[in-house]
Amino acid sequence: MDMQNLAYALTQVVHNFGAATVVGAAVFARWPQSLSPEIRRILAWLVLTGWMVQAASGAGFGAISIAFYGRPPDIHGIAVAALLVKVACAIAGFLLAAAYLRFSARWTDGGRDRAWNGLIALAATALTAAAFLRWFS
Ligand code: HEM
Repeated sequence: MDMQNLAYALTQVVHNFGAATVVGAAVFARWPQSLSPEIRRILAWLVLTGWMVQAASGAGFGAISIAFYGRPPDIHGIAVAALLVKVACAIAGFLLAAAYLRFSARWTDGGRDRAWNGLIALAATALTAAAFLRWFS
């Protein structure tokens, strides 16, 4: 078995489930009904973990390339922009989920809903950027 393909595939498995988590858990926290604060906290932890997993597995793709080729993936133009968008979303998503866990008890219901809207928007943006990274690299 080709070890490089195996390493990429296993990293992609983690990355795909991380993507499903940051999108799915944020949407579930917001719709179809308002959940209790306790359940929303659990979902916020899931989303926080999901963003960390995305950053780590995303970096893992680069590490595999360096391990097998001695250099990071050769990407240009739109692919680089898409990657930067994903990194920015991961940082912002992590910080927003962390802020939610730390401070949301003091926020209004509207403020909490806006935070979830923000997490959904960041996840959707990163997922969209993933398609551009994939097909412009
Ligand atoms: C620091 C953050 C991230 C980094 C460094 C990163 C990096 C990467 C890399 C290098 C690939 C492989 C691209 C290729 O096949 O040529 C990839 C694929 C992918 N990423 Fe990320 N990513 C990050 C965050 C995210 C996030 C937040 C999401 C979704 C919410 C996401 C969703 C995906 C998906 C769905 C793919 C597979 C695309 C496909 O093959 O069709 N990534 N990512």
